[in-house]
Amino acid sequence: MSTATETTAAAGLRGVVAAQSAIGDVNGDLGKLIYQGYDIHDLAENSTFEEVIFLLWNGRLPSQVELEELSSEIRMNYDAPAAVIEMMKSFPTDADPMDVLRTTVSALDFYDKDGHGTDREHAMGSAIKLTAQIGTISAAWDRIRNGKDVVSPDKSLGIADNFLYMLRGERADTDEARMFDVCLILHADHELNASTFTTRVVAGTLADMYGAVTAGIAALAGPLHGGANTNVMKMLIEIDDPAKIDRWVDKALEEKRKIMGIGHAVYTTEDPRATWLRKYSKVMADKKGVTKWFEMSQRIEQLMQEKKGMFPNVDFYSASTYYLMDIPLDLYTPIFAVSRVSGWTGHILEQYGNNKLIRPRAEYIGKRDQQYVAIGER
Ligand code: COA
Repeated sequence: MSTATETTAAAGLRGVVAAQSAIGDVNGDLGKLIYQGYDIHDLAENSTFEEVIFLLWNGRLPSQVELEELSSEIRMNYDAPAAVIEMMKSFPTDADPMDVLRTTVSALDFYDKDGHGTDREHAMGSAIKLTAQIGTISAAWDRIRNGKDVVSPDKSLGIADNFLYMLRGERADTDEARMFDVCLILHADHELNASTFTTRVVAGTLADMYGAVTAGIAALAGPLHGGANTNVMKMLIEIDDPAKIDRWVDKALEEKRKIMGIGHAVYTTEDPRATWLRKYSKVMADKKGVTKWFEMSQRIEQLMQEKKGMFPNVDFYSASTYYLMDIPLDLYTPIFAVSRVSGWTGHILEQYGNNKLIRPRAEYIGKRDQQYVAIGER
């Protein structure tokens, strides 16, 4: 920056307020998360994912009729375009599911004739399609890469229940479907996290919603963001033995390696979402009679609190929860997207509704007054 007010960029823009939003708020010191004024614990206890989607998009809870209308519109749009599913069959079977999601979500735009509209009506249509189809694509990819038939969505089911059905080809039991629904509620929005900020930057150029969400998926895939949940489970599998935890953590800290699922850019205390996921990890451990992963996670949590004063984030206990739900490791981050698309699209709608191109400045730290030297004389 050479012409505007002198300022020093905060590393990673920590603490910088970069947008106004009424969608969600994180109070890092109190460990409090709200969506449109409602505490995440209240919503997790009492709400459904579809109700939360309405809340994020409209700023208030729906009436019964409004909820039924939105749920029905989402269900009517569960089917991804046949051409997109066909295209997926040509992908290499070892393609990472997040790469598949990024590529196919970008392609969904071809099949939405109003997909470039940034007015609320058209953008809302795209938001519904994206929210309905990210789960379909993620589940379909797992079937395709394993040589199985794609399971058509069941339009009588909600997003959570339907996702598990399309993945497994059979219905989840009621408790598991409800637990998964709450997981989707917990991941739906988190203020100006890296992927949401990305979607707002893209939407701020008045690019279409598919482009903005595609960019959000790319950002979510990174191991420091949504990719952490898969890496937590890889870490637990690598350690494998509860007796090895203490030594493993000490060595990781000595080598200055980060423990995945621990720490947060905003929370200085417990991430309220982790409170629910810790409970669910235990529920699944008891249900499956496999307590090892939960116990190992608890020990890592305890050590990281004692040694570094750090707490688990949303990804830490979601790993062992999903693992015992028999969900493949590399689908944990796509599941994050199945939920977070509701927050992304809420933020994109908000950005379109009061748009200003997002164009910050960089603090220039390079050289000045260099003179060009002919290539043969360098
Ligand atoms: N394990 C061990 N040390 C950690 C750590 C972790 N998970 N997270 C942060 N630290 C340490 C860093 O090594 C650094 O130590 P130093 O000051 O001695 O160099 C210090 O804490 C600050 O780390 P930094 O990465 O700058 O903090 P941040 O605010 O940017 O961290 C995260 C936020 C989430 C990026 C970071 O905690 C992290 O990488 N966690 C693991 C990945 C993860 O779970 N991501 C999902 C987030 S929801």
